[in-house]
Formats: sequence, structure tokens, C-alpha cells
Amino acid sequence: MDLPQIYQLSEMLEFCRKTRENRQTIALVPTMGALHQGHLSLVEHAAQLADRVVVSIFVNPTQFAPHEDFAAYPRTLGEDAAKLAQYPAVVIFAPQTSELYPSGFQTVVANEGLGLTLCAKRRPQLFRGVCTIIAKLCNITRADFLLFGRKDFQQLRVVEQMVADLNFPCTVVGSPLVRARDGVALSSRNVFLSQEQRQEARMISQGLWRARDLFQGGERRAQPLLAAVANAIAEAPGLAVEYLWLGRWDTLEECVELSVPGIILCAVHAGTVRLIDNIELGL
Ligand code: PAF
Repeated sequence: MDLPQIYQLSEMLEFCRKTRENRQTIALVPTMGALHQGHLSLVEHAAQLADRVVVSIFVNPTQFAPHEDFAAYPRTLGEDAAKLAQYPAVVIFAPQTSELYPSGFQTVVANEGLGLTLCAKRRPQLFRGVCTIIAKLCNITRADFLLFGRKDFQQLRVVEQMVADLNFPCTVVGSPLVRARDGVALSSRNVFLSQEQRQEARMISQGLWRARDLFQGGERRAQPLLAAVANAIAEAPGLAVEYLWLGRWDTLEECVELSVPGIILCAVHAGTVRLIDNIELGL
């Protein structure tokens, strides 16, 4: 069966209108393509929640700064469609930039709390771009469910906050982070890692697991938990830490000692490739 692929906004609006008219629910899985098993696990989760699953494939220019990898970001629509063909509920939405951001576009959605910390310190445009595109996709699809991977944990929390603050009529669902067999968190950007960088990148998950082991052994202080991660990463000379952080998983407040469920978040550079990862503690 050919997977429905919709390129035009008007067609997507019509598809969603008809779906609702037939009393079917919609789950939206927003992606920038270059789909991997992490995305497919979101699609599987979405198909359990709703009758139809819209997978948007759109490399969103507004979340990239001019010096970032927008132009180089992998674009593999044919391969993505082939990977999605096994899911009968899926419709691909691959809009043109000129339709989503026509000339004269002026409005942005910005989170002024969670969206200003951590990743945003280095990438101030990121969550503004993410919130704006997600708000647009929600309005276009009027999806009942919105699915995000927990690898991009700050993104998940920022979108949850936007949905709550602006009363979007949808439920946000965070799906578990998926790791490759070598422990590296799946990411579309992993294709840019050389073999050596890939080897080194394993130390990030090694470190996070060491911290989790300490946590499970009763350690609650940020300093030794973060030192376990930092020491593992330091074993790989090609890795450079951008941030390594521990705090409450719900409010993303930094903690010196955890008394509630927490999370360690990190951004690490392997050459020009920026990797983010995390481990949830006590959830
Ligand atoms: O996580 C991503 O791939 C992007 O930030 C998203 C959510 C698709 C918005 O462009």
C-alpha cells in the first residue's frame, strides 16, 4: 500500500477535517526527518493512542541560527517514507517552507522560562523556533495527541508548558529515549559522527549509567553524581562538555541535592557534532 504523503497545506487541512468528521482521533509526531528507531517508537506509541498518525517531516529553519547545520541537516524523505510504510495509520505531512513561513510572516511563540536555560544558552533561537512550528502544526492538524521523545527532554518540557499556558486542546506524550546497542542515544545527527567519534560518544551513556548506579546506591548529591558523568566523558579526549546539569525533572530547577525525582541533562560536542543526552533518576 502506498503511504499517503501530503505536501500541501490545504490538503493537510482537508485530511484532518475529514478525519475529525469521521470521529477519528489524530496523533501528531513532529519530526525533521532522517527517521531512526527513536522516531519509529514514537509512531508506534502514537498508533496506540489515536486512529490516525500524522508524521510531519519538516526541517524547521526558525530553530536554527545562521551558523548552525540547517543546510547540512540530513534530508531523506524517500527513505523516511519507506520506513513508515509498515504503519497503516500514518500520513506523512512534508510541507514547503514557503507555505509554512510565507513572506510577511511575523509572529513567534516564545517560552520565557524553561525555554531560556540549558540548550537555549548556546542556541537562543531554538525553543522559539520549536514552539512556533509546534503551535502551527497543532493548529493545522488539531491533533488530540502530540508525541515527543524524552531524549530532547527540555524540548518536551517546553512544549508541555506551552500547551498548558496557551490552552492547546491536546495531550503531550513523552516517549522513552531509545539507545543504540552501543549505548549512544539515537539522533538524526549521529550520521555526522566519524567512527572514532562514535566510539568516544559511548562514554556519555557510560557516564550517565555510572551516575544512575550511584543514585540507586543512595547518592543524592549533585557533585558526585555529575562527577561520575564528567569523569567518564573525560576518558574520551575528543569530547567537550557544553553543559552537564542535574535538577528536578518537573520544573527543571537546578539542585545541589535531590529530594524529588530528578534528571541529569547534558550537551556534549564531538568535533562539530552536538549531542544531547540525559538520564532520569527516581521516576
Ligand atoms: O525534535 C525535533 O526534531 C524538532 O525540534 C521538532 C520537534 C520536529 C520541531 O521542529
